[in-house]
Amino acid sequence: MSASLNEELAALVADAESALAAAADDNALNTAKAAFVGKGGSLTALMKRMRELSPEERPVFGKAVNVAREQVNAAIDGNRRRIAAEAQQRSLAGTQIDATLPGRAPDRGGPHPLRMVEQDMVNVFRDLGYDVALGPEVESDFHNFGALNFPDDHPARDMHDTLKLEDGRLLRTHTSSVQVRTMLANKPPIRVVVPGAVYRSDTVDATHSPYFHQLEGLVVDRNISMAHLKGTLQAFVDRYFQRSLPIRLRPSYFPFTEPSAEVDIQCVFCGGDGCRVCGKSGWIEILGCGMVDPAVFESCGVDPNEWSGFAFGMGIERVAMLRYQIEDIRHFYDNDVRFLSHFS
Ligand code: PHE
Repeated sequence: MSASLNEELAALVADAESALAAAADDNALNTAKAAFVGKGGSLTALMKRMRELSPEERPVFGKAVNVAREQVNAAIDGNRRRIAAEAQQRSLAGTQIDATLPGRAPDRGGPHPLRMVEQDMVNVFRDLGYDVALGPEVESDFHNFGALNFPDDHPARDMHDTLKLEDGRLLRTHTSSVQVRTMLANKPPIRVVVPGAVYRSDTVDATHSPYFHQLEGLVVDRNISMAHLKGTLQAFVDRYFQRSLPIRLRPSYFPFTEPSAEVDIQCVFCGGDGCRVCGKSGWIEILGCGMVDPAVFESCGVDPNEWSGFAFGMGIERVAMLRYQIEDIRHFYDNDVRFLSHFS
């Protein structure tokens, strides 16, 4: 009797070991585990048959059952490791890694093309001895208009479609507001350029945007003349475009300069022959300028009998479009990386 129970026990262990070894995954392993060492499993069933043995035989058999349980548990652990290793092998075989391939370079950012153009423009003026000044984009009526000789309710204010804030301030329509700030804060001689964003309530098209950038220039010294202004602008154009591009001055009007001019640069798209971009004229306007009006000096505490000066305001987008032959201003603001990546 005892011999036969021991034989059954040995057979059970052998069956368990081969069932566990045949398990292909965790599910199969758990099923086999339940069948042999679970509560309703065959080992428990065998234990219950202990009463078939004589009292002396029982503890011996009990020990044998415990040994058998440990054997089966060891087989469960071993096969669990085997199944995990097999799964890892399969997943490694599925992903083929070629360690000789070059790595993927991360996408790199860079300065925005407008910022690069702005820096290059500023650097030309630095080389000519100018300082850089900055001013706020939210501005008072006084700095943007009043001190610049725009009388209240004067139609000249309509030249700029102003975006106004509820508190009476406004988004500056030009960087000329920083002329006023600079003269109020510094005694002449003054030589500054002012890069910055400006705002106008304009409709967007290929050459207009309600948000754009200007580079303002202001020189105040003794005996400054229109010749200095023209020479400075030609020097800027030659250095910035690294070749001599013709410019022309056309008479114009600004309340804060007298005389005033608008400056065109020869169209780089057609070389001056006339094309779609320059409206068949061969010229593209890039700035307004003139001699600082004595009334502006008065508003800013500069004696117009002692000092004279010139000022200009250049469109940075316009210059960038000419430099890089970009036909539509909207490219600068769409921030399409395919466009931006040409510049970095
Ligand atoms: N502020 C003028 C504009 O935005 C440009 C300008 C600047 C004209 C300085 C003359 C002198 O149109």
